[in-house]
Amino acid sequence: MGRTRQAGHATLRSVETGPHSATRGRPATSGDVATTAADRRVFVRRWLRRPARVGAIAPSSPALARAICSSLPENGHPTVVELGPGTGVFTGEIQRRLGGRGRHLAIEVDATFAALLRGRFDGAEIVEDDASRLPDILATRGVGRVDHVVCGLPWAILPDASQTRLLEATAAALNPRGSFATFAYLHATPMTAARRFRRLLEASFEEVIAGRTVWGNCPPALVLHAFRPRRG
Ligand SMILES: C[S@@+](CC[C@H](N)C(=O)[O-])C[C@H]1O[C@@H](n2cnc3c(N)ncnc32)[C@H](O)[C@@H]1O
Repeated sequence: MGRTRQAGHATLRSVETGPHSATRGRPATSGDVATTAADRRVFVRRWLRRPARVGAIAPSSPALARAICSSLPENGHPTVVELGPGTGVFTGEIQRRLGGRGRHLAIEVDATFAALLRGRFDGAEIVEDDASRLPDILATRGVGRVDHVVCGLPWAILPDASQTRLLEATAAALNPRGSFATFAYLHATPMTAARRFRRLLEASFEEVIAGRTVWGNCPPALVLHAFRPRRG
């Protein structure tokens, strides 16, 4: 089982602000949609209805969206899968980075969020479904292995079996050189479920790199980048 590496400066540049970064010298337009009061209201209402599924009372910040999407390449036509898009902060950043290239499937289990996303993002295929059904979702759309998975699922509150099922499905869906990015709230990192997730992540990928903490997110969050999936 591997260990998470804390990114040193050189690694950080290559993962979060390096040559693949689309944020350098460009305006940060992503995520602004999700900072509206209307989106916050939708988010709180969905959280009140299904707290254990939504897992947060507010959408992530644009800064977290930029950090989590930093491993998406500027070139080529990658297939990107997004898990748990919510009101679409990460969706907007993925779309901005792809700039019409490749394919972007966003899998959201909540019908209200899925409807909102469909009205907002023409370039992404919004799939209203459970992310643990990823293999079937991809197979029915004729998608083979995918290049990148960007994940907003609330790992720290998911039970053991769900964490395992979702990570297995993710690792199996990725091509051997694919990448996986997710985030963890800083205050939750000592929690049992969060630590269990970290161990599972390290068992599922050859390399896991903890990026910088995004202090501007509420609450502050840490991005985890994982590379080279291991298959069971
Ligand atoms: C913590 S919110 C993150 C939303 C958004 N990515 C953000 O950062 O603002 C978690 C999201 O995952 C969705 N979700 C939870 N379990 C899911 C599952 N099994 N399959 C797909 N989506 C799921 C929730 O409905 C919610 O939209």
